[in-house]
Amino acid sequence: MSTRGISSRASALPDDHYRKLGDVVALLTRAFQLERGLVRMLGGWLPGVPYWDAKLAMGDHLWAHAQCAARLLRRLHELKETAAERQECRAVDTLLGILGSAPEGKGFLTGLYGVAMPRLSELYSSWTKDVDPVMDPFSRSILNDGSAELARQAAWFEGYQPIYSPGSLVRNREWAAGIAAAFDAIDLPAGVWRSGAEPAANDTFACAAAPMRDECFQTAQVNEMNRRTLATFEEKRLAIFYNHSQEMQFAESLGAILHETPEMPWAFHYDLARHCVDEIRHTRMGCTRLEQLGQKLEDFPMLLQNYSLRAKLDPVERFCMMTLVIEASSFEKKRAGLKMFTEQGDETSARYESFDIRDEMQHVNFGHTWVPIMLRVNQDPRSVSDLIQHCQDILADALKNERRGVTDTRLASKEEQDLPLSTLPASQY
Ligand SMILES: [Fe+2]
Ligand SMILES: [Fe+2]
Repeated sequence: MSTRGISSRASALPDDHYRKLGDVVALLTRAFQLERGLVRMLGGWLPGVPYWDAKLAMGDHLWAHAQCAARLLRRLHELKETAAERQECRAVDTLLGILGSAPEGKGFLTGLYGVAMPRLSELYSSWTKDVDPVMDPFSRSILNDGSAELARQAAWFEGYQPIYSPGSLVRNREWAAGIAAAFDAIDLPAGVWRSGAEPAANDTFACAAAPMRDECFQTAQVNEMNRRTLATFEEKRLAIFYNHSQEMQFAESLGAILHETPEMPWAFHYDLARHCVDEIRHTRMGCTRLEQLGQKLEDFPMLLQNYSLRAKLDPVERFCMMTLVIEASSFEKKRAGLKMFTEQGDETSARYESFDIRDEMQHVNFGHTWVPIMLRVNQDPRSVSDLIQHCQDILADALKNERRGVTDTRLASKEEQDLPLSTLPASQY
């Protein structure tokens, strides 16, 4: 641990202006609420931001905030503040509600990265200086790292121009001014609005019903790649990595769950944050491999239908469908893909697939851990196996309709409705 700036000579010690233990606990508790709020807000806005490259960056940021929150909570537990997770301050909740209730993606990015991130970075930096470096270098280090990360994210946005949308990003100045005014009006260390400044509580925002994409992309409701007969190794490989590039839909569904489950414990939000950023990483893997294979992402349609289907489900059904149905049934195809790449001597594709399979094993475990708890928390009387069956039925209907290219279930023939799930196309993201 760095002891730079701390003299061992008592006479050289600075004035003892440091906060007492109870005050440090209050700051850390406040920072935890903010960091957890940022994780859930970034997840909830992932589908509503239209810029592909910004979504990839938001994944990195979301994970950085999740790790900061985890460090804060661990430190609070070390300081015997075991109930810190549940000590949420109403004023901070209102501030987070204001930040999240942006009119559209551009405004959200401008308010969050252009105003909130630099303000919070300054705040954490000032809190760092208030913590006793001899007795609590741990809290200082967490706040200092949190401040640096917030500044890094603000700097990213300052230089940000979308790659796949024409022109420069027009910042929503009016929205940013409103967010700045909210920060001026709140006393975050005290957790109160300044006298006479309390804003009306904002309703929590609703996640986008359909995911947004940059203007340059074509969008599609049916995965044509999965409907084709893929004859050659090259065609099969292209289909696998195109499907990976479309895992953004999966990340967006998980991000929406992050936002829509305020009742769940932090341990769930932490696992879900990891799950979400893993799927963004798989998206990046798909895009990277397509590029390595000489393809341009812009030449492929962006799929939207699977997110939209899942957006109609409640969070526990959505999470169960994603983990215990879709991911749990994906291994046969994934292992066949890995075998094909290995036999063909395609080491890069094999490496990508082998890491992906291990990630997916962890995701299924998340489902086994959390679906029963979600049911209990929501006082949902269904058993896990009933819920799995229910989700399989919904998915089978949707996949049959996709296979036929129809959107109305009533148009599917009886024969097709009875097809077993395993014969349906692998449109699993
Ligand atoms: Fe994945
Ligand atoms: Fe996964």
